[in-house]
Amino acid sequence: MSKVLVLPGDGIGPEITTEAIRVLDAVKAKFDLDIEVDYGLVGGSAIEEHGCPLPVETMEKARAADAILLGAVGGPKWDHLEMARRPEKGLLGLRAGLNLFANLRPAILYPQLAEASTLKPEVVSGLDILIIRELTGGIYFGEPRGVRALENGEKEGFNTYVYRESEIRRIGRAAFEAARKRGGRLCSVDKANVLEVTVLWREVIEELAKEYPDVELSHLYVDNAAMQLVRAPKQFDVMVTGNMFGDILSDCAAMLTGSIGMLPSASLDENNKGMYEPVHGSAPDIAGQNIANPLATILSVAMLLRYSLGEAEAADAIEAAVSSVLDQELRTGDIMSEGCRQVNTRQMGDAVVAAIAG
Ligand code: IPM
Ligand code: MG
Repeated sequence: MSKVLVLPGDGIGPEITTEAIRVLDAVKAKFDLDIEVDYGLVGGSAIEEHGCPLPVETMEKARAADAILLGAVGGPKWDHLEMARRPEKGLLGLRAGLNLFANLRPAILYPQLAEASTLKPEVVSGLDILIIRELTGGIYFGEPRGVRALENGEKEGFNTYVYRESEIRRIGRAAFEAARKRGGRLCSVDKANVLEVTVLWREVIEELAKEYPDVELSHLYVDNAAMQLVRAPKQFDVMVTGNMFGDILSDCAAMLTGSIGMLPSASLDENNKGMYEPVHGSAPDIAGQNIANPLATILSVAMLLRYSLGEAEAADAIEAAVSSVLDQELRTGDIMSEGCRQVNTRQMGDAVVAAIAG
């Protein structure tokens, strides 16, 4: 039996995870899967109940689970809190505490949604890239960090951008392995013209490349990479980069598809235990209205089945069902276009469940 922990979180999190779990139930029934689902609190919802964004109980459940499905965290209600108590700390604590160093963020343009992109169709049609972001190191976690008072009374904020060879090597390896299974091309993104830490990054990636002669490796500085992503995104297959650059580039890549509501992600440890979440946030402005797009969370369940539970057939079935509801021209508001039928969160979930039942 496999154990899945669901952390609905804040904002639209509860609505979209509810639909995703209905979809999981549908594939459980269809493929006779033995999966137990449990629930926990994280982010703002945990702050309300326990006064902290990542309660010990949640961390214990997370450690015991084979995989975690997370909705989204954060909202204006908690924006005034000090850094250590904010909902986002719950997410960062899970990533660090479970050693989920490899963040996979695919950006795929569904042909049915080609019109949703702000870029010209010929620039993005057929887009299929995978951004691999290092998730437990770099400037997000580097010490020392803080805000201190200088002698003249002025305040100074500081963070530390640090990577060890071993951290670079393990994310590099994950990226080379992924590139090998896809188009065989890997682009490593750094700022080696300015930052020593990324000079080391580039050296370690170069060294690793010798073990992967079948993968074509290139390097880009992060500013150029951002430009190339909007100029000619189809030149990329797999991109690998550090925590902060990956945060920025993956939002950029997500928007190329025009529909951030469609993109799932996986954060994996050394043994493919993982946490799965939609790339989009908690969207507090539309929370509780039953209008959010649940497809990114539903597709996150597909990734969970594929990477952590080894159930490729069930994962394929979910992805095919999502494609089928798009073919049926059902759309939530964020991906709506002329001639299609607008549906709400629940109706979208219903349609995917129906497509799986076939
Ligand atoms: C992401 C988010 C998070 C990050 C925030 C919510 C802490 O932007 O997953 O990309 O910066 O990693
Ligand atoms: Mg981000």
